[in-house]
Amino acid sequence: MRRLHISRFLPAIVAGILIGCTAAAQGATVTVDFEKSKPISPMLMGIFYEDLNYAADGGLYAELVQNRSFDYSAAERDDWHPLSFWNLEKRGGGDGVLIIDSADPIHPDNPSYAVIGVKKGGEGVGISNPGFDGIVVQAGETYDFSVFARQLAYPNGSLSVRLEIGDGEVIARHEIPSLNGGWRKYTAELKPTKSAEDARIVLLATHPGRIGVDMVSLFPRKTFKGRPNGLRADLAQMIADLNPRFMRFPGGCLVHGDGLDNTYHWKNTIGPVEQRKGQRNIWRYHQSLGLGYFEYFQFSEDIGAEPVPIVSAGVSGQNGGASIVGEWGKGQQAIPMADMPAYVQDVLDLIEWANGPADSEWGSRRAAAGHPEPFNLKYLGVGNEDKITPEFEERFEMIYKAIKKAHPEITVVGTVGPNPQGEDYEKGWAFADRLDLDMVDEHSYKSPEWFWDHLQRWDAYDRDGSKVYLGEWAAHEEGRRRTLRAALSEAAYYTSMERNGDLVTMASYAPLLARLGNTQWDPDLIYFDKTEVFPTVSYQVQKLLGNNGGDTYLETSADAAEGRFAASTVRDSGTGDTIIKLVNGVGSARALRIELKGYGDVFPLATKTVLSASDPDTVNTGRNEAEGEVLPVSETQRVGPSFELEVEPYSLTIIRIPAA
Ligand code: AHR
Repeated sequence: MRRLHISRFLPAIVAGILIGCTAAAQGATVTVDFEKSKPISPMLMGIFYEDLNYAADGGLYAELVQNRSFDYSAAERDDWHPLSFWNLEKRGGGDGVLIIDSADPIHPDNPSYAVIGVKKGGEGVGISNPGFDGIVVQAGETYDFSVFARQLAYPNGSLSVRLEIGDGEVIARHEIPSLNGGWRKYTAELKPTKSAEDARIVLLATHPGRIGVDMVSLFPRKTFKGRPNGLRADLAQMIADLNPRFMRFPGGCLVHGDGLDNTYHWKNTIGPVEQRKGQRNIWRYHQSLGLGYFEYFQFSEDIGAEPVPIVSAGVSGQNGGASIVGEWGKGQQAIPMADMPAYVQDVLDLIEWANGPADSEWGSRRAAAGHPEPFNLKYLGVGNEDKITPEFEERFEMIYKAIKKAHPEITVVGTVGPNPQGEDYEKGWAFADRLDLDMVDEHSYKSPEWFWDHLQRWDAYDRDGSKVYLGEWAAHEEGRRRTLRAALSEAAYYTSMERNGDLVTMASYAPLLARLGNTQWDPDLIYFDKTEVFPTVSYQVQKLLGNNGGDTYLETSADAAEGRFAASTVRDSGTGDTIIKLVNGVGSARALRIELKGYGDVFPLATKTVLSASDPDTVNTGRNEAEGEVLPVSETQRVGPSFELEVEPYSLTIIRIPAA
């Protein structure tokens, strides 16, 4: 074995690790040794994005119309059908029907559309859609409407497009005077005269006849960075504020899917949105894939994060398909070996799409989407939490070798199961050792106590083996509560990752997003509803970590620290700043003496930022960042080669010392 087993770990042997029982805190001396340093990963903190909890449609993707393409189905949710969230409107004596058809669609990958059949025009017959729990609009802002429409019977059809509220008050309106001809995209700018949180989009026809409609869409003009087909600005900004160094997408279990026919294929997610092949989301809802690979790469670039896409390893999820095989953990399906060359080619095509010249086959599609420059992809994950079976190993190896042969410059990230121990973890690591993989993806959803108790985990790992990406991690409290206690254990664990930053290259808290009322998994980093965003205490911790990273670790040790306590120090070569992180996991203040050994001239004025609350059960219930119960507070801290500092009960304290 190239790596030590956890069961063989010795108790706290490494300087800089401080764990005790839960006795009351006492004073301690924290020594930062500037003469003992090592380079560490400059990209430790990043984000894990999965379309889970309505993270995409109804979430980060700014589309305001729900089921815009008439694709919802009972396979996704028992009571869903292609007309879910659409209502037939009959106004002022109008009469008609609404049906779904699939003859001669806009594109074969987007097969169904709605047909409005107008028998008697009256004041209008058509459809309305309330979006995701009501469409939110601001007075005077611009909203980009579009629809694909086609006159199916009788010429001279027209459509009236409206934003309505209440009993039919029209707050924005546009007329499409003539629909003659086949499928055509019609666009309009809508500027509501009133702000509303419960608006609906309405399309009305008055001429008798039949009109086909598809891709009924409404976007705020103000998306994140003004991108068309873009992202909800407040949510995207909150993610950007984390200052993540990388972004993993699109999952998670979503990647390998619920059976082979549910695997996420990146090629289905690029190109014109009306040609994308939406599909059932493994988390039991619909994914339009309007937010697809181009948008993920673009967002990564917009926030300065390295893109880290994950593709399936040629097997589906072992827990997906459980209903088919009737046994949890045994649902893994494998792509037939005869089909693997085509799948491997898909993976290679992804690299060409991301990095190839604008005149290459796949690079040209990226260019056509508006990004002629390469995205500069460096990391590619293969597999997610897969059961390590012979079928998995055979397919992974095939994909891995093909990538390495064609693109040795790409860092391939393997997978070692869903837990930080156990059969798949052991088998996964043995497999990674055999292939000498660049990096593996470990996952740790554990209790706060587990994180505190495993601060030495990485110290014993063999430095000659694969690097580690902690791709999914979060402290799971009893009841999956989003407490300060959980967040502090995450901060403590992060100090151990910094200390081992020569091995642990990346870490991403998971999951990232959850829409209130549509949540399949708790806890998540950021909650939101249709109007507001609710960052958790863990968000505040991750934000502090993301904005206080470094590329050199300075040996940090503490004497006589009792109770839960952890510390680490990094230096950021970009700013020259030295950053000390101190995590006090007990309910009493702790008097510390900080010794900066070998620092030389120290700039005397540092910034001290503290995140704390007297009750570790505290959760952030407030709306938006400024209203949380647990928020960072910064003040100036006088420092010297040796200085005293009292850290608060249940706190994360960050001392940022500028270069002298
Ligand atoms: O993060 C939620 C889920 O947890 C992911 O989809 C999966 O990889 C893990 O089990």
